[in-house]
Amino acid sequence: MMYKVTLIPGDGIGPEITDVVVDVFEHLKAPISWEVVEAGEKEIEKNGTPLPEKVIESIKKNKVALKGPITTPIGKGFRSVNVTLREELGLYANLRPVKSLPGINTRFENVDLVVVRENTEGLYKGIEYKIDEVATAIRVITKKASEKIGFFAFKYAKENNRKKVTAVHKANIQKLTDGLFLDCIREISKNFPEIEYEEKIVDNMSMQLVMNPEKYDVLVAPNLYGDILSDLAAGLIGGLGFAPGANIGENIAVFEAVHGSAPDIAKKGIANPIAILRSSIMLLDYLKLNELSRKLENAISEAVKDKEALTPDLKGKGNTETIKQKIIDHLS
Ligand code: NAI
Ligand code: MG
Repeated sequence: MMYKVTLIPGDGIGPEITDVVVDVFEHLKAPISWEVVEAGEKEIEKNGTPLPEKVIESIKKNKVALKGPITTPIGKGFRSVNVTLREELGLYANLRPVKSLPGINTRFENVDLVVVRENTEGLYKGIEYKIDEVATAIRVITKKASEKIGFFAFKYAKENNRKKVTAVHKANIQKLTDGLFLDCIREISKNFPEIEYEEKIVDNMSMQLVMNPEKYDVLVAPNLYGDILSDLAAGLIGGLGFAPGANIGENIAVFEAVHGSAPDIAKKGIANPIAILRSSIMLLDYLKLNELSRKLENAISEAVKDKEALTPDLKGKGNTETIKQKIIDHLS
């Protein structure tokens, strides 16, 4: 059986790293045919929108997509394509596993946690207004979305043999919004007595993560805290070049790295492709192609032992091409 998967190369380093996945999947003989659709900066000039309708149509049809990062203008311009996609496709859960890769030297050796980020509401609704010199943002938290993300986190924990779920919040200050979020997660936790449940205020959580990351397992958080904590957690395992993610809805999933379009290193051929490759491992698992995903995971683990081939973010002397080649060598 062949699977058709939507591929969005994206902006900045996006095309460079998604090309790596295409090449690697060819060597892996993955039963996947890509349907390439463009979104992002180039499309604004061509089509007047960074997110042409055909992108949404393609993902709705194929149900599975791999997406490169897309640049979002700061402080003006189009709404984030990433946020719009997640909302339009009902991708309510952002699943971001953060796992140390053996051989990559960081301050910690055994980080193995998962950030589950609510992906459709909170401050990302983008409801803002400005009157004279006062700007206001509205933060939306609903019972429905909070229950959904809570259930997702506990179900994920149960199915993946995880021991603990930590709900992250700021309900001491945001009493109604984070208060509602917390009430919902706490209620859901009662249906999973086998999984330990705890709550942490987000500032303390940040400190805990950089002091004792090995104590944490599954974190569930509203949109903004989940966004920030997943970049923080990526830093614990060697940086954004390693951190994969998946946006998951009822029967649609879009896989992408945690990182953005990295304009500072775009078109230099030095982007680390491992984060997007790890996202593609999640994609293979989602399609139940577990044998292939394990094969790719092993090849990556072997390839990173060669320090010379690593990209500059890992203080290696190599580039995107050398690490790709190493991974391909270890596939055969
Ligand atoms: P970024 O994640 O693009 O980059 C942060 C830093 O990490 C940079 O120094 C970059 O060079 C480095 N980095 C990121 N990925 C890397 C990789 N694969 N290999 C080596 N180094 C890597 O975050 P930044 O600079 O804040 O955002 C740039 C643009 O990306 C913005 O327009 C932002 O809106 C967008 N963005 C898009 C996302 C998405 O499409 N899902 C997610 C995050 C940001
Ligand atoms: Mg982010």
